[in-house]
This record gives sequence, structure tokens and C-alpha cells, in this order.
Amino acid sequence: MDVTRDRAWQTLTRYTQAEPLRRHALAVEAAVAGYAQRFGEDEELWRATALLHDFDYEIHPTLDKHPQDGAPILREEGYPEELVEAVLSHAEHLAIPRNTPLKKTLFACDELAGFVHACGLVRPDGIATLEPKSVKKKLKQPSFAAGVHRDEVYAGADGLGVELDDHIRNVIESMRPIADDLGLRTEVAPVE
Ligand SMILES: [Fe+2]
Ligand SMILES: [Fe+2]
Repeated sequence: MDVTRDRAWQTLTRYTQAEPLRRHALAVEAAVAGYAQRFGEDEELWRATALLHDFDYEIHPTLDKHPQDGAPILREEGYPEELVEAVLSHAEHLAIPRNTPLKKTLFACDELAGFVHACGLVRPDGIATLEPKSVKKKLKQPSFAAGVHRDEVYAGADGLGVELDDHIRNVIESMRPIADDLGLRTEVAPVE
């Protein structure tokens, strides 16, 4: 089969109805696509992989099933092993070596895109003026977006070989054009 972003979106939305999960997929897609462009990689494949990394979370919300029980579904749908393996590798508990640029990128973008999203939700202009400095400050506040694993954010940047500041900046910049789709405010409301 031809792996396309559109086909991946169809698969995702067939299994995932919840808006926050769809938005998470879109945020990770944007971040991963940014790196596909920077690295000159197969953007369509990278986008599809990012969109599908949590496609089964709604039907398999626990780690004894996600994402391993989603993999056979992806194979049945005809997705190539390169995509399926990368999806599996984002899960720490499966301990699959992240030995390709796609695997490293997906892992590096997953938690950070979620965190940047959370930062944007509490700002009057979303992520329009968000800077790495303020993201790093929030990373050090354990109570803020407590579900985001900080160790995975740091390990992700490390594995990708990109300085944390640059990585945060890249992810913010990649997410900005789709801020609307992510439910983030794009303009400060005028004071009346
Ligand atoms: Fe996941
Ligand atoms: Fe995720």
C-alpha cells in the first residue's frame, strides 16, 4: 500500500473519537513532520507514523495492551513494518531499540508536543509567543502537566542529538501553523 497522511488520518479517526487524543496526534504529527523536512526524510511516512502512534489508545487505554495490541491492526490495514515498528518503539515498557531516525524523532516529539500543548493552553496567546525558556521553567514544576514524563522529554532530545533548547524551539515552530486545530488561541482577545 501507499502510506499517506490521509490514509493514516482515516485509520486514526476510525479508532479515536476523543478530541484531545486527535489533537495529540496532530501535535505530534506537526513536530515529527518538521523534523522530516529538516532531515530530508519521507515526510508522508513520518506524518502517518506520528498520527498513528496512539491510534489504539482509546480502545487499549492500558500499557498491557497499548500499543502492542494495536500493531496487528496496523499490519492488517497494510501499513509497512517500518511504520509499525516505529509506533511500537515509542512505548518505554516495550524496550524496543530506537535505532532509526524516525523512531528517535517520534519518541523525542511525543511527550514534548504534549507538554508544549499544555503550556499553550494556559497562555492568552497560546503558543504564538511561547519561548523555550518558559517551557523549560515549566518542565521544572512537577505539578504542571504532571502526566508528562520529564525524563522522557530529556531522554528524547538526547537520543535525537538535538540541544533541548533547539528541540523545544523546533517543536513550537512546527506546531504554530496548526494552533487553531490544536484548540490553542492564536490571538490575544482585545481588552474592552
Ligand atoms: Fe502511546
Ligand atoms: Fe503519544
